[in-house]
Amino acid sequence: MGTPELILAHTDERDLAQLDEYRAIGGYRSLARARELEPAALIQAITDATLRGRGGAGFPMGRKASLIDQKNPRKYVVVNADESEPGAFKDREIMGRNPHLLIEGCLITARAIEAHAVFIYIRGEYLTEYEILDRAVEDARAADLFGDVDVVVHRGAGAYICGEESALLESLEGKRGQPRPRPPFPPVTGLYAKPTQINNVQTIATVPKILELGVEEFAKIGVPSSPGTAVFSLSGNVARPGNYELPLGTPLRSLIYDVGGGIPDGRAIKGIIPGGSSVPILTPDQLDTPLDYDSIQAAGSFFGSAAVIVVDDRCCMVQLALRAAKFYMHESCGKCTPCREGTRWLVQLLTRIEEGDAVDADLELLESVCSRMLGRSLCALGDFAVYPVSSYLRKFRGEFQQHVDEGACPYGAESSIAGIEAPIDAHMHHPTVEVPG
Ligand SMILES: Cc1cc2nc3c(=O)[nH]c(=O)nc-3n(C[C@H](O)[C@H](O)[C@H](O)COP(=O)(O)O)c2cc1C
Repeated sequence: MGTPELILAHTDERDLAQLDEYRAIGGYRSLARARELEPAALIQAITDATLRGRGGAGFPMGRKASLIDQKNPRKYVVVNADESEPGAFKDREIMGRNPHLLIEGCLITARAIEAHAVFIYIRGEYLTEYEILDRAVEDARAADLFGDVDVVVHRGAGAYICGEESALLESLEGKRGQPRPRPPFPPVTGLYAKPTQINNVQTIATVPKILELGVEEFAKIGVPSSPGTAVFSLSGNVARPGNYELPLGTPLRSLIYDVGGGIPDGRAIKGIIPGGSSVPILTPDQLDTPLDYDSIQAAGSFFGSAAVIVVDDRCCMVQLALRAAKFYMHESCGKCTPCREGTRWLVQLLTRIEEGDAVDADLELLESVCSRMLGRSLCALGDFAVYPVSSYLRKFRGEFQQHVDEGACPYGAESSIAGIEAPIDAHMHHPTVEVPG
């Protein structure tokens, strides 16, 4: 493809999970360089590189770091490796394929904010990746790479809400995983009420690459508002699903057709969910949208977790909305009433529509429930439950109306979303978290 792979390093024949192999390609040289620099210079480099968070909101990492009170003797780095958004599987591959890159990023980040402890909170179901990462941590420790920093890998226990940063911190502290009211934000009051830098796996894994390439070279990749690469998890009705690392700003069309091989069986594309099941859907007329934070937002959706789900013309949008709503209902932690009750309303109303029992007023009620949920909860889970439903309803209103008018699903009782069941369903049934022997 000729695109730079900073993070996945697919082209290399080496097993990068082995410390010596990682070192053979220059691994941990960025850490050595970082230790020669003042912490403030490191924060400046991350800021100048305009490294934006790859886990959801796209907030600049350098700005978060600059909010940390450097004089506080106790500070923490926390890596959000809880990856549970339906459609997302990029962090899994980064940790499994290139764990030392993440560890190197953690150690450089710790140096930048002068922290002595790093916690990596990994999704409980990712047992294989946990074992790879844990071994890599032990190898790096044995090789004396940690200096005065310790790294702890902590396994979650199957709750989507624990990917939300404040619920993650609660869970790490041994409490029930529920979001905290904000402000204060984690850089001010985070883990154990201390200043905390919390970032997604890919954000942290990009840090060594900024030092390796230098800010100027790094900024040549991607677009000025979002330099660098992102790993896109491509799934749904597409010929070649998988993780693809591309420069930010790559057109959506190019990811789906050039990289992903297009839509199988000559089907037509109906919609594209660009950032995991929680973001508003885009339509085929938006295929030329560049895949970067600002462009996707201008198109009416969100970059989210860079999980691109392709939906073809066999899909019933009511069924798809219902599937997403059931997931968010199941995962709502119950702390905020609009989210706890609203997600149940969404599921009830969508079930009624799908089963052909709805009347016209139910569509208005569905819209009303959505607007009463939006922005009314402590964390964004309540909004995440709304975006798929409200955007499918807005963009495919005729299809919802058809269910009401015909008193049945025009797509038939059989699920016509077989091709896109996997990414969402895989997260619906949390398998029992395996305990390593
Ligand atoms: C319900 C919910 C679930 C989330 N799940 C994840 C997740 O699994 N992984 C992740 O990196 N961020 C997740 N986030 C976003 C985090 O709260 C936070 O924005 C992110 O860890 C910040 O890292 P970044 O700035 O590097 O993107 C979630 C947010 C919400 C509201």
